[in-house]
Amino acid sequence: MIDLRSDTVTQPTEAMRLAMSRAEVGDDVYGDDPSVNRLQDMAAEMFGFEGALFTASGTQANLLALMSHCERGDEYLCGQQAHNYKFEGGGAAVLGSIQPQPLTNQLDGTIALSEIEAAIKPDDIHFARTRLLSLENTIGGKVLPQTYLANAQALAFQRGLKIHLDGARVANAAVAQGIAIADIAVHFDSVSICLSKGLCAPVGSLLLGDERLIKKATRWRKMLGGGMRQAGILAAAGELALTAQVERLADDHQNAAYLAQQLSLLDEFEIDLPSVQTNMVFATLASHIDEQALAQRCRNEGILISPGRTIRFVTHKDISRQDIDKVLRVFKLHLQA
Ligand SMILES: Cc1ncc(COP(=O)(O)O)c(C=O)c1O
Repeated sequence: MIDLRSDTVTQPTEAMRLAMSRAEVGDDVYGDDPSVNRLQDMAAEMFGFEGALFTASGTQANLLALMSHCERGDEYLCGQQAHNYKFEGGGAAVLGSIQPQPLTNQLDGTIALSEIEAAIKPDDIHFARTRLLSLENTIGGKVLPQTYLANAQALAFQRGLKIHLDGARVANAAVAQGIAIADIAVHFDSVSICLSKGLCAPVGSLLLGDERLIKKATRWRKMLGGGMRQAGILAAAGELALTAQVERLADDHQNAAYLAQQLSLLDEFEIDLPSVQTNMVFATLASHIDEQALAQRCRNEGILISPGRTIRFVTHKDISRQDIDKVLRVFKLHLQA
């Protein structure tokens, strides 16, 4: 199948499977797994943090960050579209007793600094304590400008807030700008990254931060049932995600740009081309097109898309330029029928 629904569908590479089969392992809850330790040390160095923690998922890494920065009765500021607000089951509120304060994401994915500033609550018993600003990069495939990150960091610092990055796709953001991940991470007190999206590992994310934060997060991870034992089998693939898959993301970005450009030539699709900056294309279908029929036609032809008025197409390692040409052919045939 040509699966354009998400980059989470990527298959692990042959090198990953081999590394997994040979990984040296121990009990990671005792801190004894050499493959996990190597991945964490490597990531900490690569991102420019004191420590890193291997987690089961991006959701878990974000939740650990929120629970480690905030206490019961605190709040975090985030975008209305933030994954760790909208798509993570309300975990911070349910499990951490932490209140989200969602704010409007502007078209470029940023949250206006004036809105952030206005949302910081005064020290008053009526209010939750505003403790953390959480940003996401990339967000909807868009890259947050580096100057924006610097300004958000300065604001957070001035106002005594910590600042977290949901960097599920921070490697895409770095590659799109031709900079190191550390150049983005330097603006944050903690960063999460998913190894299992465009970077192709089968399972796993990382949380990065200073020693104190990682120690706290390790305790929460255990409580949340995320203490894994011979996790080095997974970490071995994670190491290859960070060493062998980051540069390759540029291909995904080129394929997304190509797909967007070609789709924009069709009257039935509306696309904001400047917002196609990494591996995601959002295309709005003309109202007379039956989205379910289009998705079914695609399925019949071996193509998976998520039906919707606005379809999100995600490019990744298992999508080639020829695959995209096939998708375009099927769309054209369907729309002509
Ligand atoms: C921006 C972002 N953050 C976090 C996550 C959560 O990752 P996971 O699915 O590994 O829990 C996702 C997953 O799609 C995501 O897109």
